[in-house]
This record gives sequence, structure tokens and C-alpha cells, in this order.
Amino acid sequence: MLHLFAPSPAPSNFPEAAAMDASFAPHRLLTMIHIIPGLLFMVLAPLQFVRRLRSRRPRLHRCMGRIVLASGLIIGSTALVMSPQMAIGGANETVATMFFAVIFLFALVKAFVSIRTGNIALHREWMIRAFAIGLAVATIRPIVGVFFATRRLTHLTPHDFFGTAFWLGFTMHLIAAEIWINYTRSQSRVKEKPERFGTNERITEGLAAGNPRAYL
Ligand code: HEM
Repeated sequence: MLHLFAPSPAPSNFPEAAAMDASFAPHRLLTMIHIIPGLLFMVLAPLQFVRRLRSRRPRLHRCMGRIVLASGLIIGSTALVMSPQMAIGGANETVATMFFAVIFLFALVKAFVSIRTGNIALHREWMIRAFAIGLAVATIRPIVGVFFATRRLTHLTPHDFFGTAFWLGFTMHLIAAEIWINYTRSQSRVKEKPERFGTNERITEGLAAGNPRAYL
């Protein structure tokens, strides 16, 4: 962020850094509108998964959830605008980022619609998918680092490997999310006791029988 406002010259042993900065520099405002909600998303979203916080402070979960949701919608829609204009890895990176931005937005909307209709299990699952995609942006950095570290052997330029790094990071995260969702699906359904939907025996029995809509 600081680099956008006060750019410093790229180090002489890393000339590619200047080329990478150059793709963001003409789009400072758009970049800011993308990365400030990104910061909020990364800080607040992990707290949404803390069961103790959800069960003790459901209103806080709701309030922070709306901030995370709004941030996510801004991140995803600005990503769609940025992808064709600012991709260091060209068309390959543009397709990867647009593809996952659409899934990210879809997951957020599905998660919200699910909780509004009382389906907590589905809300949780779609939020896990959305969070996994959001977090992938962090994992892509070390993947890019590995490509940079091995470029003397591979002779690949950032233009060659950025797209591949994005595909790898996003796909790995989404696969990990699906494994986690499948592994935890049956346990998670019986544990939540939302304030809004009540907590009587009928609900508990309904959930134990595998009916997440028992809250309605
Ligand atoms: C990034 C992760 C998450 C976000 C952004 C998020 C967001 C939200 C939002 C915005 C609401 C309020 C919807 C409304 O306006 O009524 C909500 C409610 C709720 N969420 Fe999440 N959520 C997340 C993760 C989870 C997880 C993992 C669970 C676990 C099952 C969960 C369970 C609930 C429950 C039970 C409610 C209803 C709370 C109540 O009204 O008492 N959420 N969430």
C-alpha cells in the first residue's frame, strides 16, 4: 500500500519488480478500493469461524459478517475489473482471476441467502469456500516466490508463471475447502444454537436427523 503512494526504485538485482509495480501504478484508486477491503476481509473473516465467539456473541458475528460480506463483494467485483487490465501473467492470469472471482462472489451470495433462509449448514459451507478462495491470494505469494527462486533453471519470466501460480493457489485452496467441508459436514450440523432461530428440542432432533432447515 505504501509503495503505491511513495514508490521507490526496484532493487538492481530484481528488475522484474519494476515491471510488476508498473501494472498497478496507473490504477492507484482501483487498487486501493480492492486492497483495503482485502485487509478487512483477511483480519475479520477468520474470527467468523471461532465457534465460541459465534455462540457467545451472535450479534457480533452478524455485524462483523456483514462487514466481511460487503468487503468480499467489493474485492470480487473490483477483481473482475482489474483482471483484464493489470494481469502480469497475461491472458492465463486474467482467466484464472476472473474465474475464481466469479466463484468467490457466488459463494458469498449463496452463504448469505442460506443464512437468511435459516440454513446454517449451507451458510457455513459456502463461507468456507469463499474464505478459502480469499485466503488463496496469500498462498499464491510463496508459489510465485518458488517460481522466482527457480527462474535460473526454468528460464520462465513473471509473464510465463504468474497465471500458473494463480491457478495452482486457487485450485489447491478450493480442493482443501471441499475436503474440509466433507470431513466436518455431519458434526457441524448439530453444534450450532443460533439466537434467532431458537434452541428447543425439536430443532436439536431435526438437526440430528440431518435436516438443517429444522431451525425454520
Ligand atoms: C467468513 C465467514 C462468515 C461470514 C462472513 C458470515 C457472515 C454472516 C452474516 C452476514 C450473518 C447475518 C445474516 C443476517 O443478516 O441475518 C451470519 C449469521 C450467522 N452465521 Fe455466519 N458467517 C461466517 C461463518 C459462519 C460459520 C462458519 C458458521 C457456523 C455454522 C456461521 C453461523 C452463523 C449463524 C448460526 C448465524 C445466525 C446468527 C443469529 O442470527 O443468531 N457463520 N453470518
